[in-house]
Amino acid sequence: MKTISDIKELRQQISTWRQQGFTISFVPTMGNLHAGHISLVTAAHKHADKVVASIFVNPMQFGVNEDIENYPRTMESDQQKLTAAGTDLLFTPTPEIIYPKGLDKQSYVEVPNVSDGYCGESRPGHFRGVSTVVCKLFNLVQPDVACFGLKDYQQVQVIQTMVEDLSMPIKIIPVATVRETSGLALSSRNGYLTEEELKIAPALSQNIQWLAKQVATNNDFIGLAKQAASFIDNAGMKTDYIHICHARTLQPASEDDKEIVILAAAHCGKARLIDNQQVSL
Ligand code: PAJ
Repeated sequence: MKTISDIKELRQQISTWRQQGFTISFVPTMGNLHAGHISLVTAAHKHADKVVASIFVNPMQFGVNEDIENYPRTMESDQQKLTAAGTDLLFTPTPEIIYPKGLDKQSYVEVPNVSDGYCGESRPGHFRGVSTVVCKLFNLVQPDVACFGLKDYQQVQVIQTMVEDLSMPIKIIPVATVRETSGLALSSRNGYLTEEELKIAPALSQNIQWLAKQVATNNDFIGLAKQAASFIDNAGMKTDYIHICHARTLQPASEDDKEIVILAAAHCGKARLIDNQQVSL
């Protein structure tokens, strides 16, 4: 696997592949890779001839109180995992390469509505940072398809909406969440959990599953979500939000909606964990 940080070199490789008639799929990440990320690379192989991954810890999507300096950086083991998964090219730009004028003078992409609630409300500016960097990475890599994990369900909807609204010729492939046997969704943030917290954390996915069963027979969505929040709190976490939403618009679900999603976030010790489950009624 080739690792490239330079934009000119990246564009040269992409253009060589294009001249050779290859299709390209893209997996953007912030590194500290686990089996969830690697499942995206596996999915990417099914959709195109060449797989490009990126590792870039994007300063624009971190809030002022969020500790970007301490975000885990594990480049060597990430490269080994990507190589083993058959990745063709890894793009590893620096913040100076992506934002040469600095964040204050950088143009940005804002995706309204789907970016607003839930994680968008708890982390102001987060999705503007995500849509801006993904737009920029799309323009650099110019892939045919790009793979995103459903673990970050709202992020997938933000990217899908951006691609539709701005007519980007890229197919977005949503990939199922990879979990521990306990049900806990794999996440770089799980590394912040103590042994004790690791026992508590599966309560998030368990209570989402409980809620998914309840909504089949009870349409008091607000009351049910409140109950699930108190179960999560009683397990030893602090619920940030848990909501039952329309699967595509992410607006609060109505009783007529057939495709819904349960979105949740909770603090477990130092870590803020997110999870979700789609339900067809
Ligand atoms: P990061 O958190 O590194 O995640 C990169 C990709 O891996 C995302 O599409 C995410 O949804 C997916 N992923 C994470 N955990 C997963 C799991 N357990 N199962 C399946 N997929 C999983 O998300 C980002 O980075 C950034 O916001 C990014 C899109 C790279 C923009 O900076």
